[in-house]
Amino acid sequence: MMHPAGENAEEEILLGGRLTAGVLRIGDTVRRPVTSSSPFTARLLAHLANIGFDGTPRYLGCDEYNRDILSFIPGWVPTAFQRFENDQIRCAGQLLQRFHAATADSQLVEPGQVVCHHDPGPNNVVFQGGRPHAFIDFDMAAPGDPLEDIGYMAWTWCVSSRPERGPVTFQAEQVRLLSDAYRLAAYGRRRIFDAIIKQQEKNIHFWSTFLAVENQTVPTSPEEIQGRIDWTERESAYTQLNRTVFERALT
Ligand SMILES: Nc1ncnc2c1ncn2[C@@H]1O[C@H](COP(=O)(O)OP(=O)(O)O)[C@@H](O)[C@H]1O
Ligand SMILES: [Mg+2]
Repeated sequence: MMHPAGENAEEEILLGGRLTAGVLRIGDTVRRPVTSSSPFTARLLAHLANIGFDGTPRYLGCDEYNRDILSFIPGWVPTAFQRFENDQIRCAGQLLQRFHAATADSQLVEPGQVVCHHDPGPNNVVFQGGRPHAFIDFDMAAPGDPLEDIGYMAWTWCVSSRPERGPVTFQAEQVRLLSDAYRLAAYGRRRIFDAIIKQQEKNIHFWSTFLAVENQTVPTSPEEIQGRIDWTERESAYTQLNRTVFERALT
């Protein structure tokens, strides 16, 4: 039985996440139920602490309620996808590039790989002073191809069918800004559009698999998950419809 929240005036339930029930803040720490990803997260965050990388929380061990203890990073975490300023997009691209560079050639990965966050949406980034500052939520982190994260980030930070997110030419320009900030080479730029589509498909697959498994204890109803699948399908159709606009901006 998990320690109930609210018993201690220092404790605060952290909402906004989509997958983990029971994320708590206690003082300057965050407590998160241990998962199968916890050992890799612990190694990853220890490596980043060792080399002085400041764009992630510190891993501080496990408490008596079987929760990971992480340092709390003050700031703002967007709960909804939204339109960002160019400067915010640039900072996000730089943060991702630094995260990948900090894990390339480490003992966490095979040669040629980096540790991918695998969920680097705005909802998993703490902003400070209006700018992306640190990643949180490493449940999906694993060795991989940087383009997996770049594709996901380009989609979730820059691309949307909602009119208030700006014209598609503006969105394509922001994908280019993100690629510039990441210092993505020509080879990567040619693949970024396909990487976006692939991440959208992966998202549909992820939530569909989720729906198929019963007794999931997530803070999200099946209807909400179905809504997320439908939304991703619409977003993917929109992205593909505008392929030439995105490709023109990137090459
Ligand atoms: N280290 C941290 N520093 C500051 N806020 C955090 C930290 N970890 C989590 N949070 C807050 O808790 C929320 C949920 O945590 P997260 O790890 O993203 O779980 P979920 O798997 O549910 O997405 C985040 O949206 C964020 O607001
Ligand atoms: Mg999260």
